[in-house]
Amino acid sequence: MAELSTHHQLGQMIDGYWITQAICAAARFGIADRLRDGPKTAAELAEATSTLPDALHRLLRALASVGIFAEGESGRFSQTPLAELLCSDVPGSKRAYAIMTGDLQYRALAEIDHCLRTGEGAFDRVFGKPLFEYLGEHPDKAATFDAAMVGIHGRETNAILDAYDFSAFGVVADIGGGIGSMLAEILKKHGQLKGILFDLPHVVERAEEKIRAAGVRDRCTLAGGSFLDAVPDGADAYALRHIIHDWDEESCLTILRNCHRAMRPDGKLLVIESVIPPGNGPFFGKFLDLIMMLIGGKERTEDEYRALFDRAGFELTRIVPTAAELSILEGTRK
Ligand SMILES: C[S@@+](CC[C@H](N)C(=O)[O-])C[C@H]1O[C@@H](n2cnc3c(N)ncnc32)[C@H](O)[C@@H]1O
Repeated sequence: MAELSTHHQLGQMIDGYWITQAICAAARFGIADRLRDGPKTAAELAEATSTLPDALHRLLRALASVGIFAEGESGRFSQTPLAELLCSDVPGSKRAYAIMTGDLQYRALAEIDHCLRTGEGAFDRVFGKPLFEYLGEHPDKAATFDAAMVGIHGRETNAILDAYDFSAFGVVADIGGGIGSMLAEILKKHGQLKGILFDLPHVVERAEEKIRAAGVRDRCTLAGGSFLDAVPDGADAYALRHIIHDWDEESCLTILRNCHRAMRPDGKLLVIESVIPPGNGPFFGKFLDLIMMLIGGKERTEDEYRALFDRAGFELTRIVPTAAELSILEGTRK
């Protein structure tokens, strides 16, 4: 295939939001779910979604040109492997992630200049308050956020379980564990292990179902609260996946010091994050870092994590890479 000119390459990058928003619209209207029983015309889909047939046809035609849905000769649209991931209940579904991205991330990202000029997050400016407060007041968006986290981070869990041996622990606390998708898998793999799922009260309430469905409810304590105040006592390991990257330096120190205070003297801190590598190569975390900038957080390098651990009273003992672009930064109390 002929190489694209630089003009064309940059043009495609600039137009990236065309595809983003087209996918998000299809996700919001649940188009993929409606094609699970077989192909349908744009008119049939429009009737089911209270949209206009011609406008919906144009949306689906554009998406089909990048492999998301396919229009057959009968004018019926069908699923494709990419479109299937927009169904609500397939493993690794990206539907909630698409809905969240097109709404919260997209709208805040349009104000990135504010971050660049002031060092403040843009999310608060657009939505009137910090992300997690906003979610607490919008239950529908909070449920979409939880499902988005399962969709994007859920597939990382196997990579973590393959890379790190949790069998030596008696109790693992998942701090900011969302609706429990990681902890449920850890407990399923290690039948002797007990777990504590800790998150904001309204999130933990929604976790019950997942923990029960995984068959580990009898070994899992659900605890609601804020990790900026305190975390539950007495676990052997405190796992924080995609938590530290959400916060500024001072809040990170508060969270880590609260873990330090709560853990057993020989306990382990497990910060699970993308560690930004040196160099110019592509890495998911480099752009995710811009999304974190919108809420006042950041993705960090190894040196930045080492310094953060040190300030919080931990020694960074090892960094365990996983098959995902994610590492387990293990710490012990100094
Ligand atoms: C980026 S999500 C990560 C969720 C989960 N650890 C994962 O890897 O999928 C951040 C989590 O932190 C939780 N959170 C935010 N503020 C919190 C607070 N003050 N106390 C406890 N949890 C909090 C959110 O509710 C959310 O579940």
